[in-house]
Amino acid sequence: MVNIRIPATSANLGAGFDALGLAVSMYNYVQMEESDRLEIISEDGAQIPTDENNMIFTAAKDLYEVCGKRLDGMKIVQTNGIPMTRGLGSSSACIVAGLVGANRLLGSPLCTDDLVNLSAQIEGHPDNTAPALLGGIVTAVFDGKRVHWVKQEVFTKLKLAAVIPDFELSTAKARACLPKQIDFKDAVYNLSRAALFSASLLTGKFENLRTGVDDRLHQPYRIGLIPGANEVFDIVYAHGAYAAYISGAGPTIMAIADEENEFFAGKVRFSLENAGLGSWRVAELKIDNTGTEIQDE
Ligand code: HSE
Repeated sequence: MVNIRIPATSANLGAGFDALGLAVSMYNYVQMEESDRLEIISEDGAQIPTDENNMIFTAAKDLYEVCGKRLDGMKIVQTNGIPMTRGLGSSSACIVAGLVGANRLLGSPLCTDDLVNLSAQIEGHPDNTAPALLGGIVTAVFDGKRVHWVKQEVFTKLKLAAVIPDFELSTAKARACLPKQIDFKDAVYNLSRAALFSASLLTGKFENLRTGVDDRLHQPYRIGLIPGANEVFDIVYAHGAYAAYISGAGPTIMAIADEENEFFAGKVRFSLENAGLGSWRVAELKIDNTGTEIQDE
């Protein structure tokens, strides 16, 4: 049995659409072993596909095919700490789990770069899959065939608060609302902010982060699909967040605060209640620098 721990991820980081992402301390756990039939168990009772459409199984099957092997069955036990369809990389976590587990079962024929490439080919963009695999903050460019990436570990005095609503927003719907074309000046607006964000995060110039998360490619279009999001932004900034952005395709809003901002998550929770947004959950997180880990077998 291979035991795997996969972190949740938060993509885009505001302006770095489809390019930046970081891993956070919220996890799915997956156990996998070869079997002559397909058996998929949801340990925590979460509703997941238990047939051949299960994403962990399809990713594992893809890896077997790449390695010239056939996969007919498998036993998969999933424990889902990452909420689904909330912009925290739950699909990428399944893809990465399937690839990493299958690779281990075959004796690790693929290297890290192969896994980064294959996971981005399956997902279509690398900004969740690469940090889920690698941890830290990842800057990634997918050229259609392979991913050019840099992982940087983050040792800053920051904490994150994921403000997670009780409704889902599919990535397909959140991508369908985006414009087909943008102005030249808006492209410049975004690329300058995306570069500012990662440089400022990594060097501790946190006063730049609020400017760095501002963008004109996706958040202005997606915010209309997230009732309550404007109020959430106001609340986290009122409690001293350095920055807040729509996590991935949404609907979660991710806030970044100083480690010394005492009771930040609790104060946000209290203000959400007072604003009639008590159904939103607040999860206090750290950046995960490890990425996907195969635990003791
Ligand atoms: N970069 C992607 C998006 C992340 O914003 O659509 C979600 O998979």
